Amino acid sequence: MIIAVSGKGGTGKTLVSSLLIKSLKDTEKDILAIDADPDSNLPEALGVDVHKTVGDVREELKEDTAKGRIPTGMNKWDILDYKIMESIIETPNFDLLVMGRPEGSGCYCAVNNMLRRIIENLSSNYDVIVIDTEAGLEHLSRRTTQNVDVMLVVTDKSKRGILTAQRIGQLADELDIKFQDLYLILNRVNPENEEEILQKVKETGLDMVGMIYEDDEVAQFDIEGKPLVELPDESNTVKAVNGILSRILK
Ligand SMILES: Nc1ncnc2c1ncn2[C@@H]1O[C@H](COP(=O)(O)OP(=O)(O)OP(=O)(O)O)[C@@H](O)[C@H]1O
Ligand SMILES: [Mg+2]
Repeated sequence: MIIAVSGKGGTGKTLVSSLLIKSLKDTEKDILAIDADPDSNLPEALGVDVHKTVGDVREELKEDTAKGRIPTGMNKWDILDYKIMESIIETPNFDLLVMGRPEGSGCYCAVNNMLRRIIENLSSNYDVIVIDTEAGLEHLSRRTTQNVDVMLVVTDKSKRGILTAQRIGQLADELDIKFQDLYLILNRVNPENEEEILQKVKETGLDMVGMIYEDDEVAQFDIEGKPLVELPDESNTVKAVNGILSRILK
């Protein structure tokens, strides 16, 4: 099962992605986390050091090609696939692949286009793949996330967050991209305005799979730079994501 986590910037994609990984690790499944956000911070949330990204691998290969260091008769794509496999970081509970962005170039589209290929190549090796996507709608229009099973759209209470969520649903329809399930996650809710926001969410027509409250402990982890996967199991946010996972895996 391939789960992508999307939404407007800063709405909580990385929080949800990292806690899904935390929640999955008790299921004994083979898990791959992919950080597909060029301004990546999933590794920090997972408490993992990253030495090499797919962007770095691509740059290396470009340089090797330019300097004639690719042995004749060897297929460049095979080398790329091999090097990508090598850049996967293994931890006791999950593997992690970071897309990153190529150095010396402002454009990361080429790296992101590789995401589709990576998903195709790796999906048979894992039970669950969780992708923390780049903010916004680009991954849909470039169809890098078209092969995912579950599209989770995270929004906060902001009008733009909810609008982006709605657009993701509409755009998937327009582009005829079929997900098995497309769900909304409402994040950073305060009990005071819960009713009002829930009404707005209802108007989007999206199917809500869970709600996460504004959480001081999450904010504190942020201040201290502590990995979110170290949030205690009693945390309401952790429990909320556990609930979301069980609904997805149903
Ligand atoms: N429920 C919550 N309670 C308190 N703080 C939260 C909550 N959800 C997210 N945050 C904080 O909001 C910020 C953005 O969250 P996060 O990094 O998960 O969003 P994102 O969608 O991945 O952002 P980006 O688009 O920049 O990658 C972080 O500082 C995070 O700690
Ligand atoms: Mg993020």
